[in-house]
Amino acid sequence: MVKLTGKTKVKTAVFISGRGSNLKSLIKFANLKKSPIQIKLILSTNIRAKGLSFARKHNIKYKTFKFEDKTRDEMNVLKYLNKNEISLICLAGFMKILSINFIKKFNGKILNIHPSLLPKYKGLNTHQRVIKNKEKFSGCTVHFVNSRLDAGKIIMQKKIKVKKNDTAKSLASRILKQEHVLYPKALGKLFFNR
Ligand code: GRF
Repeated sequence: MVKLTGKTKVKTAVFISGRGSNLKSLIKFANLKKSPIQIKLILSTNIRAKGLSFARKHNIKYKTFKFEDKTRDEMNVLKYLNKNEISLICLAGFMKILSINFIKKFNGKILNIHPSLLPKYKGLNTHQRVIKNKEKFSGCTVHFVNSRLDAGKIIMQKKIKVKKNDTAKSLASRILKQEHVLYPKALGKLFFNR
């Protein structure tokens, strides 16, 4: 669990790889006076990630690590996080798998959002699989990151109905809207009762 003292905001880094709509919702949340987190930096695996526009717009420090040499880059990321006194990492559409070594160093302090009702539909292409299997419900999950993919302790979930005429695209877009509500809510649940 994340250990926090006093009322200072939790210095947070958000890791992204693409569009960054969850990052946008986290920035909005962090900008609220009552928010328990402060987004100190944004890390991207891709210099052209659309999400970096939100970093620029809100004057948040950002850096790109391509993770081509995973061991080297993870070491540099760790140094960079320590230098910036980061105590929480929020993965938000981050497309690389962090090593066990890295996760251990940030044990219990890495969160992720996944677009399914975990433990169902871990991994990629969740919405296509949900539609193909004619599931009645789907949703999204905020969870702790551990060494197994999408398998860490669940913090919060939002369940929605899959409509008869849903496509992977329509379902993804309805769930994404819920993701933007769920991630801040889960952070609130984690930190407000400290
Ligand atoms: C979201 O659906 C998230 O659940 C998944 O990747 C997608 C990222 O979208 N992990 P965005 O970059 O936050 O818009």
